[in-house]
Amino acid sequence: MVNASVDEHPGLGKGLGRLQGRVGIVTGANSGIGRATARLFAREGAKVVCCDIQETTTPRIDKLIEQDGGQAVFLQTDVTRQADCDRMVSTALERFGDLDILFNNAGGGVRKKIHENTDDEWNFIINLNLNAIFRGVRAAIPHFLKKGRGNIVNTASTFGLLASEEYPSYCATKAAIINLTRQMALDYGTSGIRVNCVCPGAIATPRFRGFPPQPTLDRATEEQRARMAASNRALLRMGRPEEIAYGVLFLVSDEASFVTGHALVIDGGQTIDA
Ligand SMILES: NC(=O)c1ccc[n+]([C@@H]2O[C@H](COP(=O)([O-])OP(=O)(O)OC[C@H]3O[C@@H](n4cnc5c(N)ncnc54)[C@H](O)[C@@H]3O)[C@@H](O)[C@H]2O)c1
Repeated sequence: MVNASVDEHPGLGKGLGRLQGRVGIVTGANSGIGRATARLFAREGAKVVCCDIQETTTPRIDKLIEQDGGQAVFLQTDVTRQADCDRMVSTALERFGDLDILFNNAGGGVRKKIHENTDDEWNFIINLNLNAIFRGVRAAIPHFLKKGRGNIVNTASTFGLLASEEYPSYCATKAAIINLTRQMALDYGTSGIRVNCVCPGAIATPRFRGFPPQPTLDRATEEQRARMAASNRALLRMGRPEEIAYGVLFLVSDEASFVTGHALVIDGGQTIDA
């Protein structure tokens, strides 16, 4: 439960209309990075299809956006299912008449050594982090091709660049997302479609849901939080979801018109030394 008396995103500004008239899909929109980004998109004038498997975080993201004066719709979505991803796109077209932006952000991890993973655990993370991007892109691309314009951002991680102990499926999928981003940028660039990804360092969000996924809020211990803060080696603090949201906003904005296939690292310096 989010405390309603405190604005959960103090780092978000008023909005400058940078996405005026645009329609965006955000996955994992009811929590963490997706939630801050959906809210920022709306503040910048976009209409947002907020997709999430859980709606337990309150206020639900579409309500939060409406409180801000923005426009959004919530869609209960499991991004591992093609039918749900198709519904994200049809909802954007039916409710808001268009689609400009796809932010493939939902994701998670299982912390154990590779030999300790069951088939179900392994496949769960491959499906959630990697196959979901295939499914989301497959749903959105035909519309973008017809329109001759489109924008995709995927959430990778610094753990797609670095190894992290006892995180095999997470590190593998996040590395795959970075190169898949480059690959898709190559295939669709001349069709007016840009594809980028963000690589967040340790960000203070309610994740760590494990397998099977738990609809929990933040369960990290103080010790884990201190370790994560220290991992962002230059700034020595955890990042805020808003600090990733602004990176995503840049990538989908017209100011980034020559940026594609890029992995934007936003990590408080986590990756700058050995
Ligand atoms: N928090 C960090 O430190 C960090 C660092 C690097 C990358 N990331 C990445 O950022 C992304 C968002 O993570 P977060 O930290 O905001 O986590 P979070 O758990 O706060 O939010 C993730 C959201 O995704 C939703 N989700 C999970 N499975 C889904 C599914 N099958 N279909 C639709 N929605 C689903 C969850 O319900 C949740 O609302 C993930 O891809 C994660 O790997 C996070």
